[in-house]
Amino acid sequence: MSEVLAEPARVPAEARRRRTFAVISHPDAGKSTLTEALALYAEVIDTAGAVHGKAGRRGVTSDWMEMERKRGISITSAVLQFAYRDCVINLLDTPGHGDFSEDTYRVLAAVDAAVMLLDAAKGLEPQTLKLFDVCRSRGIPVLTFVNKWDRPGREALELLDEVEQTIGLRPMPITWPLGIAGELRGLVEVATGEFTRFSRTAGGATRAEAEAVPEAEIAAAEPEFWAAAQDELALLQEIGAGFDEKDFLSGSATPVLFGAALTGVGVRRLLDALVDLAPSPEPRDDADGNPRPLEAPTSGLVFKVQAGMDRAHRDRMAFVRICSGRFERGMVLTHAATGRPFATKYAQAVFGQQRTTVEEAFPGDIVGLVNAGALRPGDTLYSTDPVHFPAIPSFAPEHFAVVRGADSGAFKQFRRGIEQLDSEGVIQVLVSDLRGDQAPVLAAVGPLQFEVVTSRLESEFRAPVTLEHLGYTIARRTDAAGAELLKGQSEVEVLTRRADGVLLAVFSNKWRMETVRRKFEDLVLEPLPAGSVR
Ligand code: G4P
Repeated sequence: MSEVLAEPARVPAEARRRRTFAVISHPDAGKSTLTEALALYAEVIDTAGAVHGKAGRRGVTSDWMEMERKRGISITSAVLQFAYRDCVINLLDTPGHGDFSEDTYRVLAAVDAAVMLLDAAKGLEPQTLKLFDVCRSRGIPVLTFVNKWDRPGREALELLDEVEQTIGLRPMPITWPLGIAGELRGLVEVATGEFTRFSRTAGGATRAEAEAVPEAEIAAAEPEFWAAAQDELALLQEIGAGFDEKDFLSGSATPVLFGAALTGVGVRRLLDALVDLAPSPEPRDDADGNPRPLEAPTSGLVFKVQAGMDRAHRDRMAFVRICSGRFERGMVLTHAATGRPFATKYAQAVFGQQRTTVEEAFPGDIVGLVNAGALRPGDTLYSTDPVHFPAIPSFAPEHFAVVRGADSGAFKQFRRGIEQLDSEGVIQVLVSDLRGDQAPVLAAVGPLQFEVVTSRLESEFRAPVTLEHLGYTIARRTDAAGAELLKGQSEVEVLTRRADGVLLAVFSNKWRMETVRRKFEDLVLEPLPAGSVR
């Protein structure tokens, strides 16, 4: 406990400086561009310079990341840490594709706020909606950034209306665009009426120059746009769209900012909004619902486990969000699930291929722990004063396939690979006595997960596999009695989820499930959280 008692005031003070958030968006809304722009405007602490990107950008190069690039998706998550003003900002990357919503859910378990990024021409898109639902279910406050305002798009008021009507989140504009989408002249600060003009930059490679312009000057230069903006601002005031912190933090309203990540417009304003409005880490509830004070002894939540992140580092890393206390590299933590000690000699910050050693960290920070063989997503670590944070739920799989080693000489590698991917939470592995060890069933929320598994088994474990897709589409949790009842029924199978021993009854479709349910009155069939995008 010495680390806390030595500097009792330091932990809450450092926690107050942290802003830990993720950007949620539909692919192509500009998440990578915004991430790069945020890093450009702030001071990137880990000086990584490797921001996740698509082909042609600076980026990362591991075997299965190749697949990410080809498909334009981001599977692996990384963390970028910036210093901005007097704050430390931790930006967590979320996978861009709905098939990895389980992974996204885990990342969102580690943040205190989210930025919902909208494309000005497209508004709310399916994946944004899905991710927003996750934020709502976790009570994560959401800031909205309307991006690509340098391009023709929809009207600002119409976009706000869509946010309110579709997801029931009351928009509270912080900035307002002067000029329609595609003819952006600058941004008006809603609370004060101050106007900022931006000078163009080439492809966002340098910071956009912002210049405060007096009202009379801009009103004379852009009379039509200025008049339109004044009308809109008056309307906003009339409907009471002013910023309300309580509504933002409770998740009933969202501050909205406009800009263009590519040209840097509004990016600094977004950073300011994160510092001024987004919440700093708060005491996190343990599994019994008791909040663990920030200044309690060190504790953390494992939200992601990943191995083979690139050829040079074949080790396995657990990403841990610090929840309380001060983390110091080298300290020995206890793994709550097993009671075993875990030495943190190799604590790193990871972004893309870059790794830097982390000497200390505070609530809200993310630490990558190497040699994390025993750790699984959802696990708790603590120094003293035991704590158990609630598990991160597993989603209901909707796609099932039997996986078999294609090379009989590589069975050991096959088994090791399956075990590894299961414990990273890349896919759910289901087993049954009937099918045996050689033919586990993979269960996925989205089919792209299968591609990740087959490609990683082949490239990392040298275990090529074949997949036989099964016709099941629905899974329910059952019990041992249920497993007995369902024996011999057609289009139904009961499988054990290896990670937690939960029995899953899988059905070909929901009509079949309902028929079976009517047949066996006592049958336990509990729904699991739904994760796929529809
Ligand atoms: P993602 O990570 O959300 O999938 O999106 P990403 O940043 O890759 O952006 C998708 C496309 O949108 C990119 O164009 C990017 O340049 C563009 N973009 C992002 N922000 C803005 C913006 O503020 N204004 C405009 N006009 N475009 C923006 P691309 O042609 O697909 O890729 P690239 O060749 O430019 O990299």
